[in-house]
Amino acid sequence: MRTIVVFTLLLTNTLCSRLSLNSKDFKDIDYIDKQLYVTYSGIESVSLAGLGIENIPQGMVRSNSIRSISLPENKIREIRKHTFDETPNLEYLNLAGNSISIDDLELVHENLKLLIFDFQKSAEITDSNFLTKELKIRLPNVEVLSWKGLNHELLLSWMKSFPKITTAYLSDSNYIQMVNTSAIAENAFNLRNFHLERNVIDEFVMDAPGNIEQLYLDENPLKYFWINPNYQSLKILSLSNCLLSEMPVIYSLQVLDISHNEVRSVTFDMLQHMPLLRYLNLNNNKLTTLPEVHHLNKLETLSLGGNLISNITDIFMANSLKMLNLKGNNIDNIDVAEWWQLDRLEYLDLSHNKLNSLPSLWHKSMPMLKHLNLEFNNFVSLENVQIHNFVDLREVYMKNNNITYIDINQNIVRLVPKRCTVYVV
Ligand SMILES: *[C@@H]1O[C@H](CO)[C@@H](O)[C@H](O)[C@H]1NC(C)=O
Ligand SMILES: *[C@@H]1O[C@H](CO)[C@@H](O)[C@H](O)[C@H]1NC(C)=O
Ligand SMILES: *[C@@H]1O[C@H](CO)[C@@H](O)[C@H](O)[C@H]1NC(C)=O
Repeated sequence: MRTIVVFTLLLTNTLCSRLSLNSKDFKDIDYIDKQLYVTYSGIESVSLAGLGIENIPQGMVRSNSIRSISLPENKIREIRKHTFDETPNLEYLNLAGNSISIDDLELVHENLKLLIFDFQKSAEITDSNFLTKELKIRLPNVEVLSWKGLNHELLLSWMKSFPKITTAYLSDSNYIQMVNTSAIAENAFNLRNFHLERNVIDEFVMDAPGNIEQLYLDENPLKYFWINPNYQSLKILSLSNCLLSEMPVIYSLQVLDISHNEVRSVTFDMLQHMPLLRYLNLNNNKLTTLPEVHHLNKLETLSLGGNLISNITDIFMANSLKMLNLKGNNIDNIDVAEWWQLDRLEYLDLSHNKLNSLPSLWHKSMPMLKHLNLEFNNFVSLENVQIHNFVDLREVYMKNNNITYIDINQNIVRLVPKRCTVYVV
């Protein structure tokens, strides 16, 4: 079903601007910035990456102005207590990809704020007293700790070595299977942003009244997630690519990504206990109907792509929505003018469905629509798309439909709104 456009007349300039033969991609409307790694914009910095450095003699960097030192991917095996004494204003230290074991990390520094200690290639620790082991570091002002790819167990009591920690990256480890949230609340009271992606966590119970605001558990084999209903701090929860069959219900939540799971239904009951949601991503689950979101009056982005929705019936939609993604379902009819009053909707993705026509008055239910994706459907003519009454429409994506013929005598000017471009290939 490729689009072959047969033109009966040469395109004039006006028509060109409304019909484009240049291909362009629809903007990804699901994207949110999950801040997957530490960013630091220190001006005064020393960067010595991948140079085979084995030792850092004390005083190697002697400066009051240096704030950042990066030594990733070297062969460093130990950091002594006073190694960075001559750089008293150091704030950022990157030691990723070296071979330093926790026994050989003795760093003491008063001003360090960010420490990156990811993916050490040190040998496994075979210490029978491991469970009572203490870290030898003293870093009273570290706020951000990145310790990805841990190659031994993590004792949450170690968090005490970072009393000011607000952001922790403890992802990508086969040794993190369970996280005791009571121990987190006890040992890392200031922790706000907690990254635990790609570990082997299969159950996550958040019982303790901690202060975590952002929690990232993407790509864990997570089957069970429970949070104490009195927990009022969590704002962002990311559970993409897990094995969950139920959506968690958390009153304070503003952002929930539970895409690529096994959720079959989302009931009105669940959603009414999440009134603050502004972003809900349910892509690639097993939903067969639209969730009842109409009372979520802060919801701006709703993603339901890659589900099994075919029946769009009398379900109302939240009128706060700006972006709605219904890509890759089985929708063949979307006659919703009566029920949807999406006064703020700007992006609508209906690509990869089975639509061959849209109702003549559908512009009334989404008067502000600007960007519309209809690629990979069954439209046979531009007339059936019924876009001529959308005054704000800027772009419509139409490739891979069954439009084999666009009659310009029939006149694009009449079918396509003034400032709108239709991308046909
Ligand atoms: C979790 O941590 C708390 C506080 O450190 C401790 O009392 C409790 O025994 C721990 N629970 C488990 C299952 O390890
Ligand atoms: C669509 O939904 C309505 C109302 O829920 C139901 O009566 C109807 O049978 C459904 N149709 C299909 C094809 O599932
Ligand atoms: C595409 O359109 C042609 C002619 O209008 C029709 O014969 C054909 O069955 C259509 N194909 C599909 C897949 O809808």
